[in-house]
Amino acid sequence: MTKNIFDKRLLKETATLTIGDKTLELPIYSGSVGPDVIDIRRLYADTGMFTYDPGFTSTASCESSITYIDGDKGILLYRGYPIDQLAEKSDFMEVAYLLLNGELPDKEEKDDFVHAITYHTMVHDQMSSLFKGFRRDAHPMAIMVGVLGAMSAFYHDSLDINDPLQRKIASHRLIAKIPTIASMAYKYSIGQPFVYPRNDMSYAENFLHMTFGVPQCEEYEVSPTLANAMDKIFILHADHEQNASTSTVRLAGSSGANPFACIAAGIASLWGPAHGGANEACLHMLQEIGTVDRIPEFIEKAKNKNDPFRLMGFGHRVYKNFDPRAQVLAKSANEVLDEMGINDPMLDVARELERIALEDEYFIEKKLYPNVDFYSGIILKAMGFPTEMFTVLFALARTTGWVSQWGEMIEDPTQKIGRPRQLFTGDTQRDFIDLENR
Ligand code: SDX
Repeated sequence: MTKNIFDKRLLKETATLTIGDKTLELPIYSGSVGPDVIDIRRLYADTGMFTYDPGFTSTASCESSITYIDGDKGILLYRGYPIDQLAEKSDFMEVAYLLLNGELPDKEEKDDFVHAITYHTMVHDQMSSLFKGFRRDAHPMAIMVGVLGAMSAFYHDSLDINDPLQRKIASHRLIAKIPTIASMAYKYSIGQPFVYPRNDMSYAENFLHMTFGVPQCEEYEVSPTLANAMDKIFILHADHEQNASTSTVRLAGSSGANPFACIAAGIASLWGPAHGGANEACLHMLQEIGTVDRIPEFIEKAKNKNDPFRLMGFGHRVYKNFDPRAQVLAKSANEVLDEMGINDPMLDVARELERIALEDEYFIEKKLYPNVDFYSGIILKAMGFPTEMFTVLFALARTTGWVSQWGEMIEDPTQKIGRPRQLFTGDTQRDFIDLENR
């Protein structure tokens, strides 16, 4: 069971808010680390006013104990463990167990968990018919949204969100089947047959085998280097606090929607180029830049207020220093390309772009650093994935984080349906005008 954190809330002091002749004492709570929060739940009832925070730049939407980010120090912790240590020393199944349960598994717990996930990797056979409804050139993220949403039509015995056992089975099914579905989306796009999952392979090996293997024709040898890089990429992308797609999953889940529908909503949100779609957009940008000598032209475009162009893979709502994931991926990019003997000029462009941007006044002043999406595309391209699959891989890994956050939300005794309000600036009430009088 997830650690019960909700009674750890520590009332620190109160904030005094004076509006006109009214004075309110608002509780201030401290977590275990990070910014304190001002509890404004009584604000509307006591003042008739809302707070105003488009984009939620100053809003804590929930209490959580899963992932902590310190944007100024470039710190990312999964249940307290630094991401670079997990990427270096752990594997994705351990990290998935950690995110779901709050602790690293011992040997027996790990074996049981890996067995549970492994034996859920196959999808209902009729799900393969869903793919036939898509054009072969459909973006694989469109297929992922559709197929994940349809899963609730196949797994009726894990839809009751009030049953902890059904929540656990749905969580395991989602983590286990997302690689199978992702590989099916890829196979469908290239007109190759689907490859069944193998129970004798690790999570990352299995995914590579289902994606790049071809049934019957020949054995597909999974490269240990690629499997290790894949596993590391999954770890780095697994969770990231209350980002846009995780908040989407929580908001969908707050209405009582089934877990498969919630994850489909998260995939839809992740697809945007400002979010998980940035890895695909970043590679397209590097391809458009093409050579090192064209970098200054694009740096100027990125700085031009009248140009909507942004440097994809740069900047972050929280990280105002380096993104620790980008650091691990930059190192991984070198290792994978060296190991595979690939000399990709795009890596040279990326490195030079990073160097120039980090010395540029605009990027320094706005604290824009490479994020997780800057180097991931280069590695994934070297591993043989088409650009359109990059965000699918992000969704594959983040499904574990979404499922963990969704489960925590359901168990939160203070949880209620999310229903923000607004500052209304439209027309006030007016009478209908008949057509002939308009
Ligand atoms: C992910 O939230 C998460 O945790 C997300 C994520 C996760 O793991 O879930 O980390 C994954 O989504 C990483 C981010 C991937 N997106 C990109 O790489 C797309 C390019 N980056 C941006 O669009 C932007 O930086 C965001 C969306 C990531 C963050 O935007 P914010 O926090 O809303 O910041 P902003 O848009 O208000 O920008 C602040 C200023 C603006 O200039 P001013 O209006 O103040 O003059 O910085 C500028 C922006 O114009 N700016 C950029 C820029 N990013 C911000 N200028 C040029 N290039 C950029 N990339």
